[in-house]
Formats: sequence, structure tokens, C-alpha cells
Amino acid sequence: MATVRLDQKRRALVRDVPASFTNALARYFGTGPTDVELARQQQRAYIKALEDNGVSVHRLPADENHPDCMFVEDQAVVVDGHMLLPTPGHPSRVAEQPPIAEFLMAALEGVQTCTMGGEARMDGGDIIRLGDLFFVGRSSRTNDLGITSLRSLLDFFGYELRVIDIPEHALHLTSISSTPTDELILAPEGYLTPDDFGDLPEGCEILWMPGEEVYGCNTIGLPNGKVLMAEGYPAVKAALQARGLDLVEVDMSEIRAADGSLTCCSIFY
Ligand code: GLY
Repeated sequence: MATVRLDQKRRALVRDVPASFTNALARYFGTGPTDVELARQQQRAYIKALEDNGVSVHRLPADENHPDCMFVEDQAVVVDGHMLLPTPGHPSRVAEQPPIAEFLMAALEGVQTCTMGGEARMDGGDIIRLGDLFFVGRSSRTNDLGITSLRSLLDFFGYELRVIDIPEHALHLTSISSTPTDELILAPEGYLTPDDFGDLPEGCEILWMPGEEVYGCNTIGLPNGKVLMAEGYPAVKAALQARGLDLVEVDMSEIRAADGSLTCCSIFY
């Protein structure tokens, strides 16, 4: 989840992989998963990596009617104990939300929750957070009305929101970038430019990666200071190691086949 700071990442929600996962939406990184058991193994390793590095993980059962249900990041936006429940941008994914919302409302006692109405659409996967600065992707899943809803929430906290147009060859902002620490952004050449992000706060920088390592640009900063990354992205690995960061690598191949990145598979709350 990209909308909490590192020091807020103590609890994460995940959702089991359904047998119907082979029907998950897939257009960008793969042609669709074929091996549900392998995806489940990879999810178990992902959960273990979170737990081994200081995150307490809660699992929700799979929903067979929703092949993409493991990608919980899209369904709720948690910011400093408040929650926005977006209307997801793909119609097939809208009904994944109620059990996730119900769980988070119970877990976040007294949480202020807002929802979207009308034509507003947003996937949580379109948001990244760099300290107190937020970026949102205007994408095939997130529209201007959705962005207006997010802006209302962030205005409440006094946080700045910048909008980035997502190129057609990418799904979400988090499909092509992430903030492994509260000072670093990973972004791929050929997808994004420095102008997309604008001037960054002092001490922050963007690490530009070769376009062929776009999938590797999605990472998760862990509460113990390590960074979770997908196996197989040597330039990303070298850049993070050069910044003195310890890495935890997991195999994401079968989850990637459904356009799922590391952050897609959890919500920090
Ligand atoms: N397969 C993830 C998505 O398209 O939302």
C-alpha cells in the first residue's frame, strides 16, 4: 500500500487467491495466469516476507466470483487512520469491496470513512505517497471525479496531491513506480518523466530505471527499513543497494501474469 508512511506499516490485509484466478484481468505484464497453486505459493512467500520483517498480516478468504480479488490495494485508500472507499475503475471488480471495507472498518476503530458517488472512479493502485506528498495516476481506472474525491480527503490533512497521466501501455501508477522509502521514488524511463513528479521536497530523489525493469519499480518499504522487491530486476536491485538498503526478494511471476505487483497484494492499515 502506497498511502501510508513507513512508520505506519505495522498491519496489512491480504486476500487469498481464488481458483478462478486464471480468469483475472491481464493486459499489461502478462497474458493471464495459468497456475493457481504457484500463485498461492508465491502469495504465501509474500506474506512470510511481510511477517518476517515486522508486519502483522490478516488474510481474508478468496471470493470465487472475483478472479482479481487478491489485489486488495485497489479497494480501499487508508490515510492516517481515515479511509476512502473508491468505486473501482473496472466494472468486474466493484463487488470485491464490501468484505474488505467491513474488515477495515472494524479493525480501524472509529475510522472516518468516505465513499465515491456518481461517475467517480478510482483504483487504490493509482496512488503513491512520498512522506506528506501524494501522487495520483489519471488512468484507465481513475478519472477526474475520483481524483476530486481523493483531493477532498487529502485537503483535510493539508497534504499536497499531484496528478500524473498514466501512459496507455501501463495499468496503474503503482504498476510503474513506488516509494521504497519516504525519500525515494523508483520510476522507469519511457513511462514517466521528471516533469510528471515536479519539484520534490528537499532530500528526496527519483531513481530512474531502464524501461525493461518497469515491473521491478514496484517495491514495498518495510517497517524495519528493508525493501521488498520482485526477483529478477538487477538494475533496481543495484540502485537500492547503492542507497544502502537491505532487500528482501520474492518471486512474483504468476502474480505478475495477472498484472499484479507487490503493492497490489496488500493494504497497510
Ligand atoms: N488484474 C488486475 C487488474 O486488472 O485490476
